[in-house]
Amino acid sequence: MRRHPRPLVLTAVALLTAAACGGGVHGSPGASGLRDPYFPKLGNGGYDVTHYALNLAYDPDTHRLKGTATLTATALQDLSAFNLDLRGLTVAGVTVDKKRAVSRRAGSELTVRPFDELPKGHTFRTVVRYSGEPVTITDPDGSEEGWLRTADGALGLGEPTGSMAWFPGNHHPSDKATYAIAVTVPKGVRAVSNGELTGAKRSAYGKSTTYTWRVTQPMASYVATVAIGKFETHTSRTPAGIPVYTAVDPEEAEASEKVLARLPEVVDWETRTFGPYPFSSTGAIVAREGDSGYALETQNRPVFPGAPDVGLLVHELAHQWYGDSVTPKSWRDMWLNEGFATYAEWLWEEQHDGDSAQESFDAAYDHAADSAVWAFPPADPPSASHISDSPVYTRGAMVLHRIRKTVGDARFFALLKSWPADHKYGNADTHDFTAYVERANPTKKDALAEVWKDWLYGKGKPDEPDTP
Ligand code: TRP
Ligand code: ZN
Repeated sequence: MRRHPRPLVLTAVALLTAAACGGGVHGSPGASGLRDPYFPKLGNGGYDVTHYALNLAYDPDTHRLKGTATLTATALQDLSAFNLDLRGLTVAGVTVDKKRAVSRRAGSELTVRPFDELPKGHTFRTVVRYSGEPVTITDPDGSEEGWLRTADGALGLGEPTGSMAWFPGNHHPSDKATYAIAVTVPKGVRAVSNGELTGAKRSAYGKSTTYTWRVTQPMASYVATVAIGKFETHTSRTPAGIPVYTAVDPEEAEASEKVLARLPEVVDWETRTFGPYPFSSTGAIVAREGDSGYALETQNRPVFPGAPDVGLLVHELAHQWYGDSVTPKSWRDMWLNEGFATYAEWLWEEQHDGDSAQESFDAAYDHAADSAVWAFPPADPPSASHISDSPVYTRGAMVLHRIRKTVGDARFFALLKSWPADHKYGNADTHDFTAYVERANPTKKDALAEVWKDWLYGKGKPDEPDTP
């Protein structure tokens, strides 16, 4: 990434302030959190990371991780100090623009005070050296993420807060960046990550290998991953020529073979349905059952705990458009991820001799009024422990089906493509989405308002729609 020189021209106000303080930029500390409605301390204010270069070494025998993280970031204000999110681990030292910086830990916040204050607009490089046994984080809903030990290695998973367990950063979905991830592991195991493999270099005497991965499209840190262990890897291409890289735990190889053979076909169908595939490679990582409690849409190659079925493969790959390329602005907007990914499953069924989306909708609607699916509106989970509950998934998909019924198939299928195309590599929230749908369907504004009121924001089970 190109480095910007310090701006030479200071504004009159800045000059006056600087003079009053005896020289230098009079910056203030960046915020310690981005006030996410569910995870207020997640992320940090005052800067924007554009690139992470992570150099990691992990030994499955000792469980120790040693890392150097180099962050390229731009100051969004005059900064006297800024925070990074980091959970556990011990920091050995921090530099900013090659000069030693003061750093302090409090909980999951690492505060960095650079030697020189950072003027707004300045692009700076922060290097954090750290090590330790990375921790497993238990989410508010009881699921486990962060660093998960496996039989022969480990899995780094980050939704919603786990990436801070293995690298320091601005761990909020709103700050996306490119990545270069190098992982050194002992002989006998391999390291798989996001993006494309650019090298596998053995050390002298062959005791270890460094696998280097490059992510050239912006990525939210919660979909960053590293999988360390024994894997059978396989490369191919989709019919459209997108490189496929799969890594499968040998114990899951037999069970995965048939479903992974369909991965190119799934990506191809999704490309026809959702528009151009947003990234430069695809694939999957199949760990063992129980290595994680859930599948995750890690960018380029989702992680599955055991062989997925086709529906789950469709779901996680649909997230590459809805979630990974168009990313929620905050964790309140989760339904934009899960509603679309669930609707992708319904559409796959509809177009592959299964139930129609209407039948899936009807089956969901049949849930009794006191069922979990009606517990809260998809656009407003009551707390962090509910962001992955069924209203976000199933009722989220029902919102999309109601849009389809309101605007008709032609406009709905156009929307499935234009929404991710127009927000490619960006962030969006619920209001951005509803405003977008209304703009695309100006004659249906009133009917859409009803959909938002009843299905997206309404409490309890909505009345049965009169138009099927
Ligand atoms: N996003 C995953 C999926 O449905 C599920 C998931 C894993 C999740 N961890 C989470 C959802 C944490 C919300 C929060 O594909
Ligand atoms: Zn999902």
